[in-house]
Amino acid sequence: MSEDLFAPLSIRETTVRNRVMVSPMCQYSCDEDGLATDWHETHLGSRATGGAGIVMTEATAIEPRGRISPNDLGIWSDDHADALAPIAEFAKDRGATPAIQLAHAGRKASKTPPWDGSEPLQPDEGGWETLAPSAKPYPFEDATPPRTRKMTRNDIDGLKEDFVAAAERARDAGFEIAEVHAAHGYLLHEFLSPVTNQRDDEYGGDFEGRTRLVREITEEVRGVWPDDKPVFVRVSATDWLPDRESWTVEDTAELAPLLAEVGADLVDVSAGGIHPDQQIPSSGPNYQVPYAERVSENTDALVGAVGGITEPKQADALIRNDRADLAIVGREHLRDPYFTLHAAEELDAGDRVEWPIQYRRAVGK
Ligand SMILES: Cc1cc2nc3c(=O)[nH]c(=O)nc-3n(C[C@H](O)[C@H](O)[C@H](O)COP(=O)(O)O)c2cc1C
Repeated sequence: MSEDLFAPLSIRETTVRNRVMVSPMCQYSCDEDGLATDWHETHLGSRATGGAGIVMTEATAIEPRGRISPNDLGIWSDDHADALAPIAEFAKDRGATPAIQLAHAGRKASKTPPWDGSEPLQPDEGGWETLAPSAKPYPFEDATPPRTRKMTRNDIDGLKEDFVAAAERARDAGFEIAEVHAAHGYLLHEFLSPVTNQRDDEYGGDFEGRTRLVREITEEVRGVWPDDKPVFVRVSATDWLPDRESWTVEDTAELAPLLAEVGADLVDVSAGGIHPDQQIPSSGPNYQVPYAERVSENTDALVGAVGGITEPKQADALIRNDRADLAIVGREHLRDPYFTLHAAEELDAGDRVEWPIQYRRAVGK
């Protein structure tokens, strides 16, 4: 019989208490140095209190130029790790599995936060030159002055070192899952997609070349991540650019077993973000789940589905019907930090979750 939403999930030697994950969501709430603040502690802490199995940080930059905005979280120094450690510890105390998304924003870095318009920040406004596989800025590829530099081999070697150092710090800060962010048009996705990767060295060209960096970084992160703890990789299954040569669901299906081979335990299947011309066919319930299913057909790795999951019955059905191993819930967690506890009530599974003892009188316990 298939599992349900409240069945624990064991990955390696790590057991997650249920199949709900808080999707990584940028909060743009750091002071200008990338250190976690009270906001992050409260935001992630309340979702851990709310019953989710995995609570994942927002995209956490492995080096300063990898931030989308100057207010993004970072993990490029021990001070950053020290600021994150209490968050990981609190999540564990609450029974959740703390996870961190390791990220580099590539050509989509150096912007204002969304509430200030996500505008490109120029150097005299505190912005910086962005890095990408090819010198094509985003969103206007022929922008002048050019704000995006093609990465050299030295840059690529440095990037790998930064990912490894970030993973080591995250491990020492107490995180139990590391997720490599290779989705949404950020740096690693930019290497995967022919839309953004026009390199003619071994990190570009054919499928093997374009996937090399993601495979290498996953392998190197796996190399420093404890054997008993999981590594996830978030991918964009498709560029949603059907009219041009681009990254497709079939490419993702081909990549997934290669990621598993180098140590990824779960592929977190999202989509889009590489180019403003993308055509999103639907953004309704489960809109990306078919991609997760296609990926799952091609790999033994676990698969997480994300996108338009808002209802307890819907999340439960995804697990029961073997459509995904993990229901990854984003915006609904912004509306309801207690999504999982509320889901348990609705699904008549109240005895399978723990309300905080401080709150039990509110639920008749
Ligand atoms: C405010 C906000 C911030 C986000 N930041 C990130 C991020 O840091 N990393 C990431 O991989 N996805 C990010 N996303 C995408 C979500 O993780 C998720 O994939 C997307 O919202 C679709 O899921 P949903 O329909 O449940 O919201 C963000 C989404 C929102 C709404």
